[in-house]
Amino acid sequence: MPTALFALGLILSSINALASLHAGFDDSVIEQVRSNLIAVASQSWELGTAAEALTELEWPALSVFNASAFPPPHELDGSDNASDVLQIANDTVTSKPSDSLPLVANDGAVGDPASIGAAVLLANWTTSNSSNIAYATAAGEQLVYLLYDAPRSDSGAISQRADQVQLWADFIYMAPPFIAYYGVLQGGDNESSLLQTAYEQISLYRDVLRDDDGLWKHIELGSYQDNTHWATGNGWAAAGMLRVLETLNHSSVAIDFIEQSVNLTQWIQEIIATAWQHQAENGTLLNAIDDPTSFADSSGTALLASVTYRMAVYSNDTSLIPYADKAFQLVQNSIDPNGWLRNTVDP
Ligand SMILES: *[C@@H]1O[C@H](CO)[C@@H](O)[C@H](O)[C@H]1NC(C)=O
Ligand SMILES: *[C@@H]1O[C@H](CO)[C@@H](O)[C@H](O)[C@H]1NC(C)=O
Ligand SMILES: *[C@@H]1O[C@H](CO)[C@@H](O)[C@H](O)[C@H]1NC(C)=O
Ligand SMILES: *[C@@H]1O[C@H](CO)[C@@H](O)[C@H](O)[C@H]1NC(C)=O
Ligand SMILES: *[C@@H]1O[C@H](CO)[C@@H](O)[C@H](O)[C@H]1NC(C)=O
Ligand SMILES: *[C@@H]1O[C@H](CO)[C@@H](O)[C@H](O)[C@H]1NC(C)=O
Ligand SMILES: *[C@@H]1O[C@H](CO)[C@@H](O)[C@H](O)[C@H]1NC(C)=O
Ligand SMILES: *[C@@H]1O[C@H](CO)[C@@H](O)[C@H](O)[C@H]1NC(C)=O
Ligand SMILES: *[C@@H]1O[C@H](CO)[C@@H](O)[C@H](O)[C@H]1NC(C)=O
Ligand SMILES: *[C@@H]1O[C@H](CO)[C@@H](O)[C@H](O)[C@H]1NC(C)=O
Repeated sequence: MPTALFALGLILSSINALASLHAGFDDSVIEQVRSNLIAVASQSWELGTAAEALTELEWPALSVFNASAFPPPHELDGSDNASDVLQIANDTVTSKPSDSLPLVANDGAVGDPASIGAAVLLANWTTSNSSNIAYATAAGEQLVYLLYDAPRSDSGAISQRADQVQLWADFIYMAPPFIAYYGVLQGGDNESSLLQTAYEQISLYRDVLRDDDGLWKHIELGSYQDNTHWATGNGWAAAGMLRVLETLNHSSVAIDFIEQSVNLTQWIQEIIATAWQHQAENGTLLNAIDDPTSFADSSGTALLASVTYRMAVYSNDTSLIPYADKAFQLVQNSIDPNGWLRNTVDP
């Protein structure tokens, strides 16, 4: 899985947002990475993650990290056009068979198609054609699938697999941010109930996947498990929680979700604080964070660094920034002359 590029997109966008600690990447490097990303993204989770990274990087006013996120404008102008994000939404909805509730049919994963949902909602919100209900219908069907059709664990956690009940850390980045974003765009009674659902799903997943030291296991329940503390899985969990936290914070009902926001903040902090304790001398995290026999992985490192920068902005706590800076150097030095990130599973 070319997680590297997506994580890199996310770190590029958070560095861009912070714009202080480093000179950052040259525009030409960003452009290379961006075009590689668009060229190779094809799986549902890749497209959803690409859409989010591109939104944060190029149209930050539209991202949930921005106080201006809600409501988005109904009309986008020439430069603030979210063109490649809307292209991903258009391609997805155009390809979706009408008898599929999920945005991508027969994906196997429950959460992954939902990762494109925020882009589809943005496309609906900003379409200039008010009779075009294709995006709203597709997003609504995706939500119905998650909430009413997909299998669930005994505790009520929505499965990450369609054919059996199995919880993956990946789910936290793929589905709850969409559910929360949907809720805030709807407003009214549905806003609070969907925000609460997004929060509860995270909480139910954490009950199963979190280990004593604060790191999350990758896969539990179902026919096989992966108990390792996969760096990228911890990145998906922390980054997904962060998007829900920011969505909550910028919603009109933020005041009703103080306790949930405090919990999400703590749940993110415990992952990043523990992960960086295992950082290697050169800045990298290992693929299994606390397994010294595991290999170095620049993509999980990039994703957790991006969360660390964003959390410093959110909480005004800069104590983990030195770890993120070291990781940033490692990531920057790991990009080859063609804009591909090295030292990761599948660049
Ligand atoms: C919010 O959007 C404005 C306008 O595009 C941008 O200048 C600012 O950097 C954004 N802030 C964040 C935190 O993304
Ligand atoms: C969309 O915005 C980008 C910059 O954000 C710009 O390069 C591009 O030309 C715009 N596209 C259109 C059709 O206006
Ligand atoms: C996708 O874009 C094409 C070409 O602009 C347009 O004809 C089509 O209506 C769009 N699809 C949706 C769902 O809006
Ligand atoms: C789609 O956009 C319309 C117009 O902005 C809005 O009224 C509607 O609630 C949106 N649908 C969804 C599912 O967000
Ligand atoms: C607006 O969307 C409707 C429904 O998809 C479609 O029939 C119509 O042709 C679109 N109008 C324009 C101007 O694209
Ligand atoms: C809001 O939720 C209620 C059920 O709680 C549902 O009947 C209604 O259709 C929802 N509204 C929208 C706009 O999704
Ligand atoms: C927040 O976490 C605490 C401690 O785990 C728990 O007791 C409390 O119920 C949580 N609050 C909410 C709103 O879930
Ligand atoms: C960084 O250190 C790790 C562990 O010590 C090592 O496996 C990896 O190859 C190093 N990475 C680079 C780019 O030197
Ligand atoms: C949440 O958002 C409000 C309004 O945008 C802001 O004043 C507050 O500082 C935010 N909370 C945190 C912890 O960032
Ligand atoms: C953030 O922390 C710094 C240093 O601890 C402090 O000086 C500053 O007032 C804080 N800012 C906010 C908005 O809390």
